[in-house]
Amino acid sequence: MKKILLLGLIMSFSSLSFAQKQFFKAEKLVETGVYYYPEAWNQDQWDRDFQKMSEMGFEFTHMAEFAWAQIEPSEGNYDFKWLDKAVELAAKHNLKVIMCTPSATPPVWLTKKYPEVLLVEPNGQTAMHGTREHYSWSSPKYQELTKKVVEAMAKHYGNDKRIWGWQIDNEPSHYGALDYSPAAQADFRKWLKNKYQTINALNQAWGTAFWSGIYTDFDQIEMPNEGRLISGIASPTSMVDMKRFNADACAAFISLQNKTLKENISKSQFVTSNFMNDHADVDPWRSKDLDFICYTVYPVAGYTNGTGDQGFRLGDSWRISFANDFFRSLNGVTGVMELQPGQVNWGKYNPQPYPGAVHMWLWNAFAGGLDFICSYRFRQPLFGGEQFHYGMVGTDGVTPLNGGEQYSQFMSEIRELRKLYKPNVPMPKEYAARKTAIVYNQDNVWETTIQPQTYQWNERKHITKYYSCLKSLCAPVEIVDENKDLSGYPVVVIPAYQMVDTALIQKWYNYAQKGGNLVVTVRTGLKDHNGHFFEAPWAAIISNLIGGKIVMNDMLNEAKTAKVSFDGKTYLWNNWGDMLEPDAGTEVWASFADQFYAGKPTVIHRKLGKGTVTYIGTDTNDGKLEKDVLKKVYETAGIGVKELPEGLIVNWRDGFWIANNYSSVNVNPDIPKDSKIIFGKKEMVPAGVLVWQ
Ligand code: GAL
Repeated sequence: MKKILLLGLIMSFSSLSFAQKQFFKAEKLVETGVYYYPEAWNQDQWDRDFQKMSEMGFEFTHMAEFAWAQIEPSEGNYDFKWLDKAVELAAKHNLKVIMCTPSATPPVWLTKKYPEVLLVEPNGQTAMHGTREHYSWSSPKYQELTKKVVEAMAKHYGNDKRIWGWQIDNEPSHYGALDYSPAAQADFRKWLKNKYQTINALNQAWGTAFWSGIYTDFDQIEMPNEGRLISGIASPTSMVDMKRFNADACAAFISLQNKTLKENISKSQFVTSNFMNDHADVDPWRSKDLDFICYTVYPVAGYTNGTGDQGFRLGDSWRISFANDFFRSLNGVTGVMELQPGQVNWGKYNPQPYPGAVHMWLWNAFAGGLDFICSYRFRQPLFGGEQFHYGMVGTDGVTPLNGGEQYSQFMSEIRELRKLYKPNVPMPKEYAARKTAIVYNQDNVWETTIQPQTYQWNERKHITKYYSCLKSLCAPVEIVDENKDLSGYPVVVIPAYQMVDTALIQKWYNYAQKGGNLVVTVRTGLKDHNGHFFEAPWAAIISNLIGGKIVMNDMLNEAKTAKVSFDGKTYLWNNWGDMLEPDAGTEVWASFADQFYAGKPTVIHRKLGKGTVTYIGTDTNDGKLEKDVLKKVYETAGIGVKELPEGLIVNWRDGFWIANNYSSVNVNPDIPKDSKIIFGKKEMVPAGVLVWQ
């Protein structure tokens, strides 16, 4: 196993993926750019703006994702003159261009002439013109008109060397709205026919024998609509199918554009799309046909407390790292297409980020192996729905705002760092030894959201909590799908993986048997892919894997806490607790310390072949139990642990160590005495960055 592991590690760290070789130069490390909206500014300012962008240190710009009305002012009449001028001026100032397809914002002539393209909300209201993402992915008319404008753009710019690559749409998502338009309903039925072939198969899968839900024809089926279901959800499976369909419809719409582009553009131009990093209604991994996928992230908008008193200005320590590791996992390449520039306008409330936070986020993005970083947006808008949103420069169009200054600092540091770059530096051994995979499947997120069992359940929170624990132990982490070969990871975490089959359990079994260390958490293995329980003792499908039985589970409300003891310490929980019955030979690591099941095991650990399996049967809110158990898993496996102060994130890339201080206090990371500090101070202030070799 050790040999296989080593080989896997060497292969995954030394070989650049095809997309990376083709579009990005390793010696550039990362290239940084910024959004520009030529259509919103006087033409006589464009030259000045691009010049300023370039002087500030940017290497590329990004345009046209919301400019359909200007590109096709009336049906079939395309106007590229203004965009040609903008591309020419960008090139004059040495800025490459990411060109975008404008499908996020249809022009008014389109929605008036073809109102059937509009999304219909769950309450039956048709979306109105004047915002974005308000069209139906399933509308044949919208697909046709999108294809035409994309084709026209691709023919015009597809062989233009000034165009670096393409972004399709913008944050494809419908921003959480589900589409109940006639086009979507018809598409859903088609999707179901294709999946189930016969109505009986659908009835079986959806469990329609319950509450007289049997269908006799696909044409009777409507998309399940929670607002119109009187007494709860008759068939959770039908809801999961709707989510799957919705994500497939989005991916198909992106694919249509990708195909249209690829038929017309040069191979040197990439095609990507920018997904929101924490939005579960679409599934970026379904867009495997893109050259790579990328993400958008806004860490400070009034939705998080972060770490300590100033955490609300710094953001969650795990957020950017998680996005890096999630998006990179698709094919080894990613970038951030929108990184918060400073104060925004759309949050719950919009605090100023902590001084230096933007700079820290940039370095955190870099540390995740990204090939490019782009900021939304160059100029602060004077009008429109995002007026208070900072840009790199302020309302006068020329003076850098605090975020703009931090971008310039980062970009000049990267230029320095490039001088120190050496190709193919192997990942330090003790860091690689902690390499951990988290296995992820969007189905589990949807399924447990539809049937949470406790109002406190939040699957993404459960997963990011484990992620955060792993990062606090200084592990390199990858988020992988269930088909990924796990042999390159010394540790694999299976968090709340509710929907399984025997082949998957066998795969995990084999992984541990050959020497891997598997960590399995609550809810795993309860259901099949249709969301049905197995006709067997509770969770029996994983008993042989975890070396014990799950007898029952319990949950409390947030006002009440119960106790677990582990290695002489007491931990509090109230979200989910599994009572376990270990098989002979399985060790008990932690047990409940109160409630009527006091003394019953809840964390068990066993040897399996050359490896180990640990089952963590309690979900806590603060993650302290989970972190300590993971630490013990590493230690038991002989893997050296490095425990970081709370809020400190340390990553390694291309021969450089990068530390980011997301905590509200100074920290002093423990770095080897002979380290060469490149940027920053060893005594790290909040939002501090330390880069060393
Ligand atoms: C992003 C979006 C941008 C812009 C930005 C404002 O989510 O993609 O178009 O609205 O938010 O922060």
